[in-house]
Amino acid sequence: MGDEGKNPSALTVRRQAPASVVPPPCLLVIFGASGDLTKRKLVPALYGLYREKLLPEAFAVLGVSRTPFSDDAFRDHLRDGSPETVDRASWDDFAERLFYQPGDIGDPQATRALGERIRAVAKDRGIPGNLIFYASVAPKFYAPLIRRIGEAGLSVPSEDLPGTRRVIIEKPFGHDLASARELSRVVSGVFPEDQVYRIDHYLGKETVQNILVFRFANGIFEPLWNRNFIDHVQITVAEEIGVEGRGDYFEEAGVVRDMIQNHLFQLLSNVAMEPPISLAADDVRDEKVKLMRSVEPVKEENVGEVCVRGQYAAGNVRGGAVPGYRAEKSVSPQSLVETYAAMRLTIDNWRWGGVPFYLRTGKRLAGRVSEIAIKFRPAPFLLFDSSVCGQLVSNYLVLNIQPQEGIFLKFGAKTPGPSICVEPVEFQFTYEQAFGVKSRPAYGRLLLDAMLGDATLFPRNDTVDISWSLLEPFLSRWKENPGRDLFFYPAGTWGPREADNLLFREGRQWREP
Ligand code: BG6
Repeated sequence: MGDEGKNPSALTVRRQAPASVVPPPCLLVIFGASGDLTKRKLVPALYGLYREKLLPEAFAVLGVSRTPFSDDAFRDHLRDGSPETVDRASWDDFAERLFYQPGDIGDPQATRALGERIRAVAKDRGIPGNLIFYASVAPKFYAPLIRRIGEAGLSVPSEDLPGTRRVIIEKPFGHDLASARELSRVVSGVFPEDQVYRIDHYLGKETVQNILVFRFANGIFEPLWNRNFIDHVQITVAEEIGVEGRGDYFEEAGVVRDMIQNHLFQLLSNVAMEPPISLAADDVRDEKVKLMRSVEPVKEENVGEVCVRGQYAAGNVRGGAVPGYRAEKSVSPQSLVETYAAMRLTIDNWRWGGVPFYLRTGKRLAGRVSEIAIKFRPAPFLLFDSSVCGQLVSNYLVLNIQPQEGIFLKFGAKTPGPSICVEPVEFQFTYEQAFGVKSRPAYGRLLLDAMLGDATLFPRNDTVDISWSLLEPFLSRWKENPGRDLFFYPAGTWGPREADNLLFREGRQWREP
């Protein structure tokens, strides 16, 4: 008897998600709370969880930063943070859980006052314990902030505030290998690894989580998921936006640190890792780190052969003229920082030996799309005459992360008519069609997981370390000579021409999404 006979319901889409778990009581202390992230992402995500009844009754947010807000002024400031905050009654109810403590964490007196305020808010909201600290400050303040939390005795349970302690740290986790290690040393001196939640919001996207489900919950794809059937893989994260007022951050970071070290490497590990033995956080993260350790390191002198960087010049995006990167606010007119990067990596293991992985990401490109495109090897024998019917294409399987959330498979089909001609057509799955909804925002899922103590979707220290090690030869080469491997591209295009050559010289080309 086939599987269908045993369990027919296994083949149908479940409309009802299993009952969700509400986390235990907790107080979330957000440092840097007057910033954009709290207003645009964190609080809207928490409000979304509240409306879905996924927050515990005993829950509060205590925002901390230097801006002198009162609790009410903080609530007003957050209210218009997202279009979700339309329902006034439920927002007002939710907002009773939002509090604010002005203060500079560098000042010992402010830290003492913070400790007292934490206790007062916890008492007010009936929160018996459990603190989560969210570091949403500028990266240079991560280490001093975490040290200060430790010195203030807030990182360990006390008699009046028992329970768990966790810290959530926004990316970038470090600026290079040495600074990442130094930060990690400071963090681990205050919080053991199992209490550290490093945010990579790509991992909270449902379409990214679906990569593992697609690979390991279906029997038909995994047997093809290797060097015998796959020609190469392209990972693209293209954005139409520029640096959006974050010129000062970008001048320090560049797109390799901002996107490749975290988001693209995470996509790479999801698509290429071996099946974990269970979904336990460390089983999944063990496989990811194993995969990243199998990526063949690139020697500094070979970086120019496998990587092209770019910077956008003035151009047109969606019909409107936009300035070049060098004309953006807080950007040097001579800047040599990259807003685009493409690289070719290989993975030295039995599954992937010889299969190139091409990664590219950039700002002010011709479209907004994040996708993983898997190109299969061509059919071994061309039965259909390409001279009569045009070029045959090989199969592409595209995992579309955004904006069109779904998966499609491109294959050849016979065109109607007397002669046998083949044309590419597509099988398509989209979240919206299949489930009637678009997927949820990533931050909500990640905040919920942190409250539940589930670290599966948070990069572990060893993964962060290996990803910086892999980039070290690139960063060191550009530090020595900042203009190296850098080419300009007009805004609104697919990046510098030189990046095409990475594939072209191997008889391949970038997929135009
Ligand atoms: C952030 C980067 O991590 O991700 C931004 O710092 C980038 O520069 C953003 O724009 C992209 O995220 P998303 O979810 O819009 O693809």
